[in-house]
Amino acid sequence: MSMKTIQIQVNGQSTSKQVAPRTHLGDFLRDQLQLTGTHLGCEHGVCGACTVLVDGAPVRSCITYAVACDGQAITTIEGYDQDPVMRRLREAFSAHHALQCGYCTPGMLATARDIVLRLPEADEARVRIELAGNICRCTGYMGIVAAIISVLRDLSQQPDADITALRGQQQAHQGPVLGSSASADAAQRFEGFRAQNDDDVSSRLPAETPESSAVAADTKTVGTKVEGSFEVAFDADEVWVLMTDLRRVAGCLPGAKVDAMTGPEVTGSVSVKFGPMSASFKGRALLEVDAQQRQAVLRGSGQDALSQSRATGDVLYRVLSVGQSRSKVTVELTYVLQGPLAQFSRSGLVQEFVRRMIADFGRNVAGVLQDPAGQQASVSTAINPLAVFASILWSRIKRLFGGQ
Ligand code: FES
Ligand code: FES
Repeated sequence: MSMKTIQIQVNGQSTSKQVAPRTHLGDFLRDQLQLTGTHLGCEHGVCGACTVLVDGAPVRSCITYAVACDGQAITTIEGYDQDPVMRRLREAFSAHHALQCGYCTPGMLATARDIVLRLPEADEARVRIELAGNICRCTGYMGIVAAIISVLRDLSQQPDADITALRGQQQAHQGPVLGSSASADAAQRFEGFRAQNDDDVSSRLPAETPESSAVAADTKTVGTKVEGSFEVAFDADEVWVLMTDLRRVAGCLPGAKVDAMTGPEVTGSVSVKFGPMSASFKGRALLEVDAQQRQAVLRGSGQDALSQSRATGDVLYRVLSVGQSRSKVTVELTYVLQGPLAQFSRSGLVQEFVRRMIADFGRNVAGVLQDPAGQQASVSTAINPLAVFASILWSRIKRLFGGQ
């Protein structure tokens, strides 16, 4: 296999290494640099045990290729000796018996450091949400949460100049995403959950405002955003009529199933299967329409019975005329996952998966417009998860090695 040479800084030391393109960062750190403090649990990006910092932001090293980190700075659990946040976290983890068996601890500490820097005001509920992507399998989270809360509380009572400076740097880089190199996407950085308060997700339930007909710009969901668009060879007015028909819109959404509909409100489920993740979110959604702008937002919220994970999202779409009998539909999906599946919301692979779902949605819309009477027969709402997963992986590999 051809090897690639990467220049990388690990725990402050620059090094140049030959690495096989398929080697993930976790194996590279453990096997080539003997930094065995980075623990590997699931190797699927699920458990968070392997979390390290890449250019200051927490990243899962088991789903990050080492070659994607060329030119970047990595910090592992062995490299925090001089870090003022980690000094406090170390003491707090000891004082609150948060170490337990210790297997998840390196990843927990990397995430905890991110919480302390990014969310000075976080309370217990918020800390638990932020830790949702790090799984402790031996005991529980009480000690870990208590340790993080105690560091936050101490800092609010007595600020530390060094940590205040680090927080300033973090903010200057717009939250948890530090660094701006082109390979940031390939390294699959975490995107922090940016709800303004802990009621944000539950307050997204649309039941209180069924009569609302305007797209309220000030009530946008905060979370991971994915944008996409598709074009169809139909007049914008014609497309708009379809896009405001809730049952037909739901019928075009891959994996969606409508159980009942009352006015602008729909109850049903959305099933998703992607790599190791399989979920069926049951819930309800409300369609808010701004006919003048030809834009609408479908606000939904649901729960997966198996994992007890919760999803909240807004699908904002606009229909634009881009020529005679030709329209473009822009789609903006903003979503938040809470619970055991939360870690998937941050994965670049999942965001690409969603983009492809948007493209499938576009194809289905075009199919319905072409054949309104035979809608059910012409629309493909089934997802072939293996095919989508394989095709995304393949396109990423090609991009990584300069192919088109
Ligand atoms: S080993 Fe990387 S997330 Fe589990
Ligand atoms: S301390 Fe043992 S897995 Fe978390």
